[in-house]
Amino acid sequence: MPERIKIGYVGLGRYLPENILTNARLEQIVDTSDEWIVQRTGIRTRRIMGPGESLESMAVAAAKSAIENAGIDARRISVVRIGVNTHMRFPSLSSLVQEALGIPDASAADISAGCSSFIFSVEEIFNRLNFEWMAFGKKSYGLAVGTEGMSIVTDYSDRSTCVLFGDGAGAAVIGPVASGEILATYTRTQGKYAGLLELDKFMHVPLTDQREMRFQRLEVTNYPYLRMEGPKVFAVAVRTMVSDVRMVIERYNRANGQQLTEADIDYVYPHQANLRIVRAVGEALKLTPDKVYSDGVKNYGNTSAASIPIGYIDNLGKHRGNTEVDVAFGAGFASGAILRKVAE
Ligand code: COA
Repeated sequence: MPERIKIGYVGLGRYLPENILTNARLEQIVDTSDEWIVQRTGIRTRRIMGPGESLESMAVAAAKSAIENAGIDARRISVVRIGVNTHMRFPSLSSLVQEALGIPDASAADISAGCSSFIFSVEEIFNRLNFEWMAFGKKSYGLAVGTEGMSIVTDYSDRSTCVLFGDGAGAAVIGPVASGEILATYTRTQGKYAGLLELDKFMHVPLTDQREMRFQRLEVTNYPYLRMEGPKVFAVAVRTMVSDVRMVIERYNRANGQQLTEADIDYVYPHQANLRIVRAVGEALKLTPDKVYSDGVKNYGNTSAASIPIGYIDNLGKHRGNTEVDVAFGAGFASGAILRKVAE
């Protein structure tokens, strides 16, 4: 069996729509105020897809930028995973992006694990690239994307949710690295909380008569909107993210005979759902605010699966040699964390 190799991020990219939805504009749409939004969520602006922008165009733009940044030929990518919850059609977004990028014969599939979908995507790619190396001695590359069009499923008459979400995409090319490797990943889903945050009844059941097996022809597709019990989600989110950070460190220690602790963490990227959640996670981990990423939630709102890779770009080149953790939480409730080094 070959020696283990280091696998990490070799290139990063993102795409943010041009349209900016401000709190001042939301004040005209629903009964809210800039003061309430900033105080309860920390969000000031979000980006919203306009004509000519789509999940596919955002994912392709972010991926192209990551591939360019990695300096590799896209044809060397053997696995594509796109974390996305708002691509409510088939074929998969991954197959469309694969084709647009000119990647032949890769294993390409979407992952729907709420706002943690990017973490789940990275974990799958990391495991697969490790397997290809250990089993076949093959060094290959993977592409992980988080992209989301939350504006598609947001009810802009519901003030309790419409102020929270935005659109965007982030991407990472993953492959062999000299430094800056992924140390461990951890994912889980707590289905018992699934009802607190959902987008259900997207398609009305078309079977109208079960005995006769009669199907109703739908002329219009009614989009349902996201529904959320915010305060209940809030409490579980903080608890879960803190425990997932501890779990990923413990997994790394157990697998490698190490004794890393929370005190060794230089920086954390928590999912950018709400500034109060981000701060609570930082405080529980005894990290000062400068060690906890929060610009994403202020500037782009909750971009679901895209929030963590969008954040990487804000700190590009600034954190050399850091030990960092990404941690996310969302519908499902699916959550997870990545422990990694930043390249020297
Ligand atoms: N503007 C003004 N008032 C608003 C409002 C808005 N946009 N949204 C809700 N309110 C009101 C409520 O109606 C309520 O009024 P009431 O007391 O008269 O009933 C009051 O503000 C307090 O509402 P509450 O829901 O208790 O506020 P909160 O402090 O819990 O903040 C969230 C609400 C949604 C911001 C917060 O719960 C949250 O961020 N939850 C987690 C959501 C999340 O991150 N989800 C995604 C996970 S991936």
